Amino acid sequence: MHVIGGTASTALAERISRELDNAPFGIPFTKRFPDGELYLRVGGRLEGDDVVLVQSTRTDEDLIELLLLEDAVREAGARRTFVVVPYFGYARQDRRFFPGEPLSARALCRHVELDADAVITVDLHSPQTLSHFTKPAFEASGISALARLLKERPVDVLVSPDKGGVDRARRMAQLLDRPWFGFEKRRIDSDHVELSLGAGTIPPLEGKHAVLVDDVITTGGTMVEAARLLKRRGARAVTAACTHGLFLRDAFERIKAVTDEILSTDTLDNPAEKGSVAPDVAQILKREFPP
Ligand code: R5P
Repeated sequence: MHVIGGTASTALAERISRELDNAPFGIPFTKRFPDGELYLRVGGRLEGDDVVLVQSTRTDEDLIELLLLEDAVREAGARRTFVVVPYFGYARQDRRFFPGEPLSARALCRHVELDADAVITVDLHSPQTLSHFTKPAFEASGISALARLLKERPVDVLVSPDKGGVDRARRMAQLLDRPWFGFEKRRIDSDHVELSLGAGTIPPLEGKHAVLVDDVITTGGTMVEAARLLKRRGARAVTAACTHGLFLRDAFERIKAVTDEILSTDTLDNPAEKGSVAPDVAQILKREFPP
């Protein structure tokens, strides 16, 4: 098995190759044509071999690179191509909110799977997105990577910043054998949210270390409001943990100002990237696609 890392996921791809018993690892040669179009070439002898392509699709350029990589690997004669998209862009538009809108998540699934034998992604915004793939598709979880980090820290309580994330906080709480609760969130606009205490029981927070768990940090609005609320309720320390750290604009600095630590996995390059999903992705590959 060969592992090829696209430019959006080079470090994670190399980690995955190590987890796959040091499978040969490579990166494509890339350059831009004068009109801005991408040129790429993959190296190595891929004919008759299985290839794992790793590329997050945070930007439209990343997506084009992934589609070209898939075609290049097919042209090189790979036996099977397993496409790993650690951060699957456009997954948040997973339903039509207004007439005339696309179902963006489905559109992307169709194109990403075109030259793939299977697709693996991590913590999709909504797990139903997997149903848009017609080829075998799997979702790894960033929860295990974050739990590995949190096991080394004195955590008292897990917190979901909104209703959509309660399952995540509950799973993390089970792994760490700690209590959990969730806030309720009302989004005012893309940068601002309003949080309130959910209907469930809130454990006492005085002097406690509370860990906020979310799938993605984008503008940071959610984490900033949630951390402030936890501190107002007496929390001694607050950690903001997420699978996908997008950290748009000054999100990282704004969260840093109101928390004690920020943790993220390596599905996207970012300053809080402390845990890796490589073991979880490799485990799926080994389990589902033995040589
Ligand atoms: C929402 O459903 C997600 O789980 C995140 O809470 C949200 O995308 C975070 O966005 P932001 O960082 O912009 O508040």
